[in-house]
Amino acid sequence: MKTAILYYSFGGYTRRTAQKLAADCAADLIELQPEKNYNLFTTFLRGCPAARQQKGVALRPLTADLHDYTRFILAAPVWAGYPAPPFNSALALLPANSTLEVVLTSGSGKSARQQTIAFIEAAGHRVLNYQDIRAEK
Ligand SMILES: Cc1cc2nc3c(=O)[nH]c(=O)nc-3n(C[C@H](O)[C@H](O)[C@H](O)COP(=O)(O)O)c2cc1C
Repeated sequence: MKTAILYYSFGGYTRRTAQKLAADCAADLIELQPEKNYNLFTTFLRGCPAARQQKGVALRPLTADLHDYTRFILAAPVWAGYPAPPFNSALALLPANSTLEVVLTSGSGKSARQQTIAFIEAAGHRVLNYQDIRAEK
């Protein structure tokens, strides 16, 4: 059973979290990279509204074929209460009917859990596990 950890990170915390997870479960790390990188201004101007509306953003092609994997962990920071847009875009890239483990990092350790699970299910996937991690300073 090969595990892929797909992650987006703006400030590095989710990346470090994903790296630790990958070391723990011998998973491959796959970074979600927006075609246009966010900066501090555009995270608030475009990223937060898109996150709240559960919209995606155009991503660069992935560096791996997701059909090689049977277990998926999807990790992202929380923006304006919701997963950052690259998280939403990743759902369309996963094989149909995937089972997901969700890892979200945030300042508060809270996210719009019900809405996020509903969104994942509407994209045709199933949530096995949902973890909110409070970012350590
Ligand atoms: C644009 C932006 C919006 C954020 N919105 C929230 C939020 O609504 N709730 C929260 O708890 N933390 C929020 N945070 C904090 C991040 O979720 C937190 O620092 C996260 O761990 C950063 O991950 P990263 O370093 O991988 O980007 C926000 C950070 C940014 C940059």
